[in-house]
Amino acid sequence: MQFLIIPFLLIVVFLLLFVILIFLVLSFDIFLELPYVATEHKKIETIIKLAAIKKGETAIDLGSGDGRLLLAAAQKGAIAVGYEVNPFLIAITLIHAKLKGLSENISVYKQNLWNADLKTADVIFVYGRQKNMERFENYVFRNSNKKTRVVVNTNPFPGKKPHKEENGIFLYLT
Ligand SMILES: C[S@@+](CC[C@H](N)C(=O)[O-])C[C@H]1O[C@@H](n2cnc3c(N)ncnc32)[C@H](O)[C@@H]1O
Repeated sequence: MQFLIIPFLLIVVFLLLFVILIFLVLSFDIFLELPYVATEHKKIETIIKLAAIKKGETAIDLGSGDGRLLLAAAQKGAIAVGYEVNPFLIAITLIHAKLKGLSENISVYKQNLWNADLKTADVIFVYGRQKNMERFENYVFRNSNKKTRVVVNTNPFPGKKPHKEENGIFLYLT
């Protein structure tokens, strides 16, 4: 019986750490105008398809969360750049990137996304609440300086017609 105590304690400690991590991640975001909601895994495929990333292109995620879109873009050969304010989500992103051998292709700026430099972007990912979308639309169309594909999850831009739409994902060309 005694030999079961150590594995049991390890599992309890692991679960506690996991709960603490989730709490830290979520509590950080509670006060943000744009809180953390991860893109559903089933939508990532459509997002990457509409983004049509070519090797060497730059993909920027405005509010990159746990980095799942950065990882998917980097797997297609993109230089993937995130802007994220939550340090716990940045840490998760960088750990994932390391584990998947994609560290060289992924970077995350701990910086306000409303100051993101979009000039080099070939692709921009946007996932915001409905009330954020007009600001996102203005920011993206004013600050990206070439033909950029903008892939928007769930809530479309209010003032622009999408070039394509599939499964609640909207593609715009700037
Ligand atoms: C809706 S989530 C999207 C996460 C990720 N892009 C995805 O699709 O799974 C928005 C993210 O933006 C981050 N965020 C909110 N306000 C921000 C700001 N001003 N600057 C940078 N990141 C911000 C949040 O911490 C959160 O991770």
